[in-house]
This record gives sequence, structure tokens and C-alpha cells, in this order.
Amino acid sequence: MSGRIPQHFIDELIARADIVELIGSRVPLKKQGKEFKACCPFHGEKTPSFTVVPDKQFYHCFGCGAHGTALGFLMEHDHLSFPEAVEELASRLGLEVPREAQQQGPRASATDALFNVLNQAREFYSRELASSARAIEYFKKRGLTGETAARFALGYAPDAWDALLQHMGRSEAERARLLQVGLIIERERKAGQDGPPGYYDRFRDRVMFPIRDARGRTLGFGGRVLDKGEPKYLNSPETELFHKGRELYGLYEARQASRTLTRILVVEGYMDVVRLHQAGVTYAVATLGTATTPEHLARIFRICSEVVFCFDGDRAGRAAAWRALENALSQVREGRQIRFLFLPEGHDPDSLVGEEGKDKFEERLERALPLSEYFLKHLSSQVDVETVDGRARFGQLAKPYLERIPPGLYRELLADEVANVVRMDRDRFAKTIGVDELKAREPLKERPAQHGRPRTAATSRRNLVRQAIHLLVHYPEIADEAPDVEGIAGLDRPGIPLLLELIHSLQERPCATTGALLERWRDRPDVEHLSKLAALECLVPDAAGAAKELVGAIKQLAEEGAFVRREHLLSKHAREGLNEAEKLELQALLRKPATESP
Ligand code: UTP
Ligand code: MN
Repeated sequence: MSGRIPQHFIDELIARADIVELIGSRVPLKKQGKEFKACCPFHGEKTPSFTVVPDKQFYHCFGCGAHGTALGFLMEHDHLSFPEAVEELASRLGLEVPREAQQQGPRASATDALFNVLNQAREFYSRELASSARAIEYFKKRGLTGETAARFALGYAPDAWDALLQHMGRSEAERARLLQVGLIIERERKAGQDGPPGYYDRFRDRVMFPIRDARGRTLGFGGRVLDKGEPKYLNSPETELFHKGRELYGLYEARQASRTLTRILVVEGYMDVVRLHQAGVTYAVATLGTATTPEHLARIFRICSEVVFCFDGDRAGRAAAWRALENALSQVREGRQIRFLFLPEGHDPDSLVGEEGKDKFEERLERALPLSEYFLKHLSSQVDVETVDGRARFGQLAKPYLERIPPGLYRELLADEVANVVRMDRDRFAKTIGVDELKAREPLKERPAQHGRPRTAATSRRNLVRQAIHLLVHYPEIADEAPDVEGIAGLDRPGIPLLLELIHSLQERPCATTGALLERWRDRPDVEHLSKLAALECLVPDAAGAAKELVGAIKQLAEEGAFVRREHLLSKHAREGLNEAEKLELQALLRKPATESP
């Protein structure tokens, strides 16, 4: 057996490889400014949106969102495994691939330990269900059989603050892992309290739905109250292993039920999935209290080519449906079917399939609206297409959505339909509204700002972290310019750990290009996030400018860090007093010019 390929060799390989030459040997590239363009080899298109950026040693496609490094390209295009791609690229450069002695990496075993904890918790909750008459009664009342409960590994979290803790958290190391997977919560300390931290169970007196990945490993849980209570469903927090924007409840069970899925039904709730499977609709999955993301859909389309979204017939359901459509547009292309099913008011799939059974329910599925029809119907309900003004407005409304669809036959056909509604022939319509120049957009883009909440201070600070990461991804060489970053380490803000790790890693061992940085992150959950940022244009034109921006962002974050720390020390001082070191630290913080409260 060959051992692991050392990271320094991958760094070197990416530094030496010429991504333009490599991709150019397989796809005809045309130079355009500093970049190279081609029609994308990963999806059908007539106008080139596939871009290779030599400076960054990175490629991406505006149309289908494909992206990666030289190694990533070999894997996708030539269908190679990672080690095979490394071998291929190395042999092109005349290099020998070194191998490390076989060993279990510390990272791998740390991750295994977390999966292990989640699995044990799942088993614990299952056993608790078996011995809780009340929880069993609840599931029975909701029409579930024991067999279904077993198939979905349903459970029950006892009505106590420390049932799981007592069972699985006896040592500090065990408690640290329970905390890491979100199963326990750290208690807030009271004044004067010292000693080891206290914890309590996150899930108490709830029926439990384990969320599993494609291999059946438990990633997290949803827990429902048995009676009334808030929140009705409590989900595991985002953790290293669990990402709500990626996972689908029931997908594992659906794949267990059938090796060859031809259709996937996306519903809103845990109970809907469980009840549908029990009724025989074993291809139902649910998002986890979030909207369907392009990532969810990309995942589904790797398995089958037909998706039906199912929504309640009420206002909230219709709003959710349109949101799903917006998020689905970047995944639309010929050969894929996306349809929408609206249920009668007052029903959800759970109640409906219980009332009318599998066959009737599946008849409804057959009648679900194709995306194009729903799209046209929804937009025409907003204007009066009988008037000239209304039709003009209709064309305006449709355009930004058409632009989000990757270039290709589907988009052309839908543009034809829109032209039909506005009663123009296609060419005139195209000319008037500029549909011919429909530009391919970044498909992973977030929803347009006008639909969203107004920007708050918190979102702009989050953007500061994101901005810093974005700069580093595009200009990894500027990490050395980053000022002392310890000041931001204490900030409890998403992205801070990643930002720190990027800076530390790059300062320790610089990367010359974006591609090299992404390769370093290849096996980490954050790699997708970093790749998206790499594909997103960076508006700062050169490294010097980027370095300045980075320094500015970190300084601003550090000021906030100092503020938070100062407030913490001041309140501790008032409560219980400070030790010598803390006093000195506070004095130093107070000497600094006071900044605005964040
Ligand atoms: P619903 O409130 O529509 O409930 O939530 P439901 O699925 O019909 O649940 P039952 O039938 O009362 O048990 C739909 C989904 O939204 C998420 C959950 O994923 C839920 O299944 N949700 C809902 C939450 O995450 N938290 C909540 O407090 C409520
Ligand atoms: Mn329900």
C-alpha cells in the first residue's frame, strides 16, 4: 500500500504546474486579457463562460459553477481519483511522487471520534425511546409504526438536564467532544463561580430525529417537543460535521430504500418525510428548517434528474416555493426536471398522505407544475398581461431570472416563452430587453439585496471577516502583511477561526497562488466556501491594495475584539475582582482610545 502524499509536495506541484497548458491540452482556450476562455467542458453551452486564471492557478465556470485547481480539473475532466491526478500532473512535470509512511493522521482520528460520539448518542436516544411510554405514545398518536421508528432510528431525549452528560460525558475530554458536536451547552457562570465549566444537555424531553450522511453516519439531530413548547423543533447547531445548507433529512433512508432513485421529493418537515416513507413514498427528503440551497440541488442532481418540491398551500408555502425557485435557477439545465406541487390549504404532506394514501398522493405528484410553468404563472399574476404596460413590466421582471439560468437550451426556450407572453417575436424581444446579451452570472450568488433584510452592523462586520478571507484567497501572498492577529482570536463570530487558520498557515508556509491554497484545504469542510470566494471576482486589482485592505479589516476587527475584552474585564472587575495580570491588561485596554460600541 502506498502512503499519504505529503502536503509540501502538493504545494510544489501546484506551484510548478501550468494550469493553462494543462487545460489547454484538453480544451481549446482563447486568451482574453489576463485570462483564458472556453466553452465549458462540464456543461453544454454556446458562449464561453469557462475561465482559466493563470495568476491564480484556478479555473471556474460562470455558467455551471464548476471550479477548481489543476488537480481538480484532472479529477473532474479525466475522471481520476486524487492520487491518480497527482501522479498524472507529476509525470507531466517529470517529478516523482513521494509517499509518507502509512499512518492514521491525527485529523482523521479526531473526526472519527466525533462521529463516534454522535453515533453513541443516537443509540442512547433510541434506548431511551424504548423505555419511555410517553414518547412511544406520542409517535403512535402520530401514526408511526415501530418499524418506521427503527428505520429512521428515532429516539427520545429524557426530561433531565444531564441525562446524556451522565451517560457519555464523564471525562473532560468526552465533554469537550459532546460540546463540539453540539449535544451539550456550556452553562453561563454566575458571579464568583470558579472551577471547571458546567454543562447541560441541549436536547431535553424531545423526540429525536437523527440526521445522517450518505454513509449513514449521524451528523446531528432534530428534536421535537411532545406537547406545546418553543421552539417546536430544535436542531443541532452548525458544527464541523453538520451543515444545514448541505444536508437533507431522509436522503440516507431514501437511498437505503432504493438503489436506483429516479425522483426526489423535497418537503418541509421531519414528520412529513417519515410519514411519506411509511406510506411508501420512500424518495421524500426535507431541508432542515432552511430554504433549499443550490448546493442541496446539486447534490440531488448527482443522484437523479427529477426533483419535485412540495409546499403547503398557504401564503407561507407559496413564499417558500418562490424562494426555492430562485435558488434552483442556477441548477436548471436541459435533462433536469424541476417541478412544484402545491397542497390544498390546511394540509401538509404528513396529513395528506395519511388521509388519502400513497397512490392519490403520487397522482398529485404527476400533476405538479414544471418550473417554467410556475415561473410564468407567478410572474403573470403580478401584472396585467392584457395591457401593454403590464407586458413590458413582465419582460422586465423576467429578465433577471433568465440571467440566473446557465446559458443553454433551457434558457433559450424559457426566453422564448417569455417573449410569447409579451407578444413579441423572439428577435424583437431579445433586442428590446437585451436578452441576447443575457450575461451568465455567478450561479452561487446570494439572493439579490433588495429582497433581503436591511444591512445591519452585524452583517457588515460579518462581511469584514468574509472580506478578509476573500482577499487572502485571491492574494495568499499578503498574509505576511497581516498585523498581530491575536487581538481578534477572542471574537465569537463566524469565520474568525478560519481567518486565523488561513493567516497562520500562510505565514508558516506561504502559497504563491489561489490554487495552491485551495489544495492545502482540499479535505477540509471549508474548501467549498473558499472555492466559492475564489470564483467570486475580487474588486481589488493588485496585491498591494489587497494588503492594505486586509490590514484595515483586521484592525477594525481587533478594535472590536478589544472592546469585547474590555467590557468583559470591567464586568468581571465589578462582580468578583481581577487578578494582577487581568488588571494590567485592563489598564492597557483603557489607555487605548475608546472605540464605538459594536
Ligand atoms: P412546521 O412547523 O411546518 O411543522 O415545520 P411540521 O413539519 O408540520 O411538524 P409537525 O407535523 O407539527 O411535527 C416544518 C419544518 O421546519 C423546521 C423543521 O425542520 C420542521 O420539520 N422547523 C420548524 C424548525 O426547524 N424549528 C421550528 O421551531 C419549527
Ligand atoms: Mn405537520
